[in-house]
Amino acid sequence: MIIAVDGPTASGKGTIAKALAAHYGLPHLDTGLLYRAVGRQVSLIGGDPDNAADALAGCDFPDALLSDPELRSEHIGGLASRVSIHPDVRQALYERQRSFATQPGGAVLDGRDIGTVIAPEAEVKLFVTASVAARAERRFREMQDRGGSATLEDIAANLRRRDERDSSRAAAPLIPAPNAYLIDTSALGRDEAIAAVIAVVEEVLAAA
Ligand code: DC
Repeated sequence: MIIAVDGPTASGKGTIAKALAAHYGLPHLDTGLLYRAVGRQVSLIGGDPDNAADALAGCDFPDALLSDPELRSEHIGGLASRVSIHPDVRQALYERQRSFATQPGGAVLDGRDIGTVIAPEAEVKLFVTASVAARAERRFREMQDRGGSATLEDIAANLRRRDERDSSRAAAPLIPAPNAYLIDTSALGRDEAIAAVIAVVEEVLAAA
């Protein structure tokens, strides 16, 4: 079984994907981390994330970079969003994601284009959203826990900018697959959101 979990930044898709993977005993890939590694690598080699050739050169990152905690920062998230608009970058990361998705036994992947491009045949497609206000609030609390100094307004503006870029790009934009289940987590706590998606997966499995 392939479970595709797509959605914008800070929607809760990562938490949901991890919980589903644990619940069903499936391996999980956070595909945003690959784009973040490319963004980080481009900056390490002194390249320009908006330049297609520089961004492609960043795809040649060492695997060890994937475990760098720095990748989770807002700054690297922004670089990831910028490198991810280049079709060559998406192509370079395709095979790695595709083979993870199609491994025997199945997998859970979260990202922006899992249900539309990477694994259009996924048995379960979830599109996880939440209002900008709810997402900004979550991100703000996370950052405060880590001692960050960004204001709620800055975070909301940043989220809007990233949504706009991810949704309007020509290559694999952030849009729900036609047969995706939409889950709005704005008013849901973590456990409620997880219970809701497990119920969706169970429904799909029962109908199969
Ligand atoms: O999910 P995230 O915030 O870690 O993703 C960072 C950026 O990477 C996101 O703004 C757009 C890009 N991305 C993508 O284009 N396709 C994916 N499957 C995952 C992430």
